[in-house]
Amino acid sequence: MSDPAEIARAVELLKAGELVGIPTETVYGLGADAANPLAVAKIFAAKGRPADHPLIVHIPGANHLERWAVDVPDLAYELAEDFWPGPLTLILKRAPGVPDVVTGGQDTVGLRVPGHPVALELLRAFAAAGGSGGIAAPSANRFGRISPTTAAHVREELGDAVALVLDGGPCVVGIESTIIDLSSGRPVLLRPGHITPAAIEAVCGLRPEAPTAAAPRASGTLEAHYAPLTPMRSVDGARLAQFLNAMRHSGRRCGVLAHSQPPQAGVPHAWKMLPAEPVGYAHDLYAALRELDHAGVDLIVVEAIPETPQWQAVADRLRRALAGAGA
Ligand code: TXA
Ligand code: MG
Repeated sequence: MSDPAEIARAVELLKAGELVGIPTETVYGLGADAANPLAVAKIFAAKGRPADHPLIVHIPGANHLERWAVDVPDLAYELAEDFWPGPLTLILKRAPGVPDVVTGGQDTVGLRVPGHPVALELLRAFAAAGGSGGIAAPSANRFGRISPTTAAHVREELGDAVALVLDGGPCVVGIESTIIDLSSGRPVLLRPGHITPAAIEAVCGLRPEAPTAAAPRASGTLEAHYAPLTPMRSVDGARLAQFLNAMRHSGRRCGVLAHSQPPQAGVPHAWKMLPAEPVGYAHDLYAALRELDHAGVDLIVVEAIPETPQWQAVADRLRRALAGAGA
């Protein structure tokens, strides 16, 4: 567990309007007191994030929902009961008093109870010390870059811009939370994640729909996101050896992200072998991309993943990384 003195220091920093790096089960967050607009503004400055991108407010439990949201439907409590603490964010109608800087001026707010002991301890201590009990936190990366899954990644991304990074070890899920919009009455999937539409349907009998064009923005839904600086492309496993040979002949160094079998030894400059199932693959994905991005290669080659529903969240992150890589 965490050091009580560190938690106490984090609470003091939050109350003083400073930023704290926070471990969650999905990715590390960059947190500020969600009720303090000046503190939240520091998040945007540190990340280089456009001001109209709304943030998720992390709360200690579903009993805090009505501090931040109004007209909370029963469905929200049903999902909270089964999935919180855990990697699910609910978009609800915003309560008066939630700062505009948190919601990007929208009339909705994103809320989640994170499933990480250090994050929960911090949230409870923050509320108990007279704080708002809400910590606004996006992923603790520079805007558009790879989300951090260790405390060291947060330091690498943000350096001195963050006063304290609580170290909760490597994130167990490894990709950002599933986002479900409940503000229109029916569940809409804004961002796929570890909690699948099938799991949500199993709990409430409603399968989340795909968003329409009118759905609210989610920065995780920008086409280019989660991206390394190195160019990337995806190649079918069956063509991988041939592709790598051609690249070697043209003098280009490749870093390979494989999952079905290791690339032939000695062909790529660097490679990472990820689990051949989506949960393990998601767990390792960002750290592997980060490592290949630092490997001094000209191109990151991703072995194409299966096109099945179980791989939806991973496919989403890879598609956005491919769109933004090298920029
Ligand atoms: O797992 C996660 O959700 C992590 C950890 C730290 O909790 N956080 C995270 O935050 O991924 P961020 O800011 O990188 O992504 C939050 C997403 C964005 O795509 C944002 O647009 C969306 O949530 N979002 C937040 N409030 C929203 C709202 N009111 N309506 C629509 N989308 C919203
Ligand atoms: Mg993010």
